[in-house]
Amino acid sequence: MTLHHFVLIVHLLAATIWVGGHLFLLVCFLPQALKEKNPQIILNFEKKFEKLGMTSLILLIITGIWMAYDFGVTAESWFHFKTGFEKAISIKLLLLFATFICAVCAQFFILPNLDKNAIWKMAIIITTVTLIGITMLVLGSTMRYGGI
Ligand code: HEM
Repeated sequence: MTLHHFVLIVHLLAATIWVGGHLFLLVCFLPQALKEKNPQIILNFEKKFEKLGMTSLILLIITGIWMAYDFGVTAESWFHFKTGFEKAISIKLLLLFATFICAVCAQFFILPNLDKNAIWKMAIIITTVTLIGITMLVLGSTMRYGGI
């Protein structure tokens, strides 16, 4: 096994946790929270998932940038949108930034006063972050064919 292969396996494990965790929240807990108008269901999940979720996101960033460098896509070439590979990585970085914006909105504007009337705001954030995660996964799957 090469070092790149090991880093890829860590990337895939972290992607499984990040995307899987958000899909689980979206499909299993969010509908229940909306139905019962009970934000505590979401808060309980967030509390349990926070450490594992944040660790996997940090691992995704480190391993992703590591593998991008392995492929010669260094910081100087990001956001030039010239080669297929660099395009996919640049879009992944933009989507990562969008994920941060969602996290900041949730942490500072929604979660502090999450009551039964504000659950729909959290529903939008959860749906957006899940869809972004799935898009990043799909973009990742294009890499072995040279990107997009
Ligand atoms: C939520 C975040 C992310 C998810 C869910 C994700 C998911 C994936 C998946 C599923 C693959 C497919 C690997 C394969 O074809 O076997 C992949 C590959 C890859 N990802 Fe990500 N990724 C994320 C973030 C990032 C970031 C932030 C970067 C770097 C800026 C990145 C760079 C790469 C690279 C370079 C590969 C190709 C590795 C290879 O084929 O050897 N990823 N990603």
